[in-house]
Amino acid sequence: MKALVYKGPGQKAWEEVPNPTISQPTDVIVKIVSTTICGTDLHILKGDVPAVTPGRILGHEGVGTITEVGSAVTSLKIGDQVIISCISACGHCDFCKQGVFSHCLGEEGASGIGWIFGHLIDGTQAEFVRVPYAETSVYLLPKEVTPQQGTLLSDILPTGHEIGVKYGQVKAGDVVAVIGAGPVGLAAIATAGLYGPSRIISIDLDANRIKQAKLFGATDAVNSSDADWKAQVLALTDGLGVDVAIEAVGIPETFTMCTQIVRPAGHVANVGVHGRPVELALQDLWISNVTISMGLVNTNTLGTLLKLVAQKKIVSDAFISHTFALDDIIEAYDVFGRAAETKALKVIINA
Ligand SMILES: NC(=O)c1ccc[n+]([C@@H]2O[C@H](COP(=O)([O-])OP(=O)(O)OC[C@H]3O[C@@H](n4cnc5c(N)ncnc54)[C@H](O)[C@@H]3O)[C@@H](O)[C@H]2O)c1
Ligand SMILES: [Zn+2]
Ligand SMILES: [Zn+2]
Repeated sequence: MKALVYKGPGQKAWEEVPNPTISQPTDVIVKIVSTTICGTDLHILKGDVPAVTPGRILGHEGVGTITEVGSAVTSLKIGDQVIISCISACGHCDFCKQGVFSHCLGEEGASGIGWIFGHLIDGTQAEFVRVPYAETSVYLLPKEVTPQQGTLLSDILPTGHEIGVKYGQVKAGDVVAVIGAGPVGLAAIATAGLYGPSRIISIDLDANRIKQAKLFGATDAVNSSDADWKAQVLALTDGLGVDVAIEAVGIPETFTMCTQIVRPAGHVANVGVHGRPVELALQDLWISNVTISMGLVNTNTLGTLLKLVAQKKIVSDAFISHTFALDDIIEAYDVFGRAAETKALKVIINA
């Protein structure tokens, strides 16, 4: 089969590799129908994630058709169309029993890490993928949901919802600010709307992205390159700050921006993946009764979000900016990697 193989920092190839085979009784093999590229794949390609070694097939998102099932798999069958969660869950360990699939203690990849596709085991940017712990890690695709929409449920929609909106405890009437209007920030905006906030403010440096954010439910947009951006945000509250500030960029500056606009007793929900230490002004913040949260997505709300996408209660197609054929995945990487120029959001790659 063909697959997108990581060859070391800065290098990748779309090349012929052996087909995956069932190695555990709980595995299934899935023929990919639709996959996509995540910002994390770009981090890997820069060499920022040393656990990914040359030879690894990338990708942790996708929908496909089951072509083989392991001997212990009883609730899935050949021909089923499934959404592959970016998090693999054994379903039996202490963390899985709590729904904290991101820290699954199963032995696949590495015990304690639920994100293994395209990281510690071969991923979904391929014609076929081996899916471990299949019965507890895939979701049947209902007929109302397209494979392309299903692909958005592998990672970005659960991430924005769980680590942004739920950890941020968004509730009716809140003013919510989301810093970063990439796919993950937009997913936080789209799912925040489920809880009835009075305003959702999209904040980004990219004028095109904050404009687009309105399609996902943002009520207001603030360009953080404006010198008075903070005053603009506060003017959209009662002057005391936002109830929830969601960080969806992953750099120290934007985390600090969240702490500067949150009101006393509010919430800062960090979603961004950080590569550098962040200074936390506890000497100012301790007195403000603010809650700060962070984490790796669990995809424990994937099933709920799937129902909402099926009922068109969550915007989904608007995330898809470009569509490519699987054989053109290198071109898809190029377009996605130049998002500011190409206006790419999610690039969908169809087999
Ligand atoms: N916690 C998790 O489980 C999890 C899962 C998936 C992704 N992520 C992380 O979420 C973050 C967002 O992902 P994405 O795919 O949407 O990223 P992205 O790069 O597509 O979007 C980031 C956005 O931030 C904006 N931005 C950059 N600097 C800014 C600044 N100083 N002020 C305001 N805006 C700024 C960019 O213009 C861009 O629109 C990344 O750090 C990603 O690694 C976390
Ligand atoms: Zn991802
Ligand atoms: Zn587990």
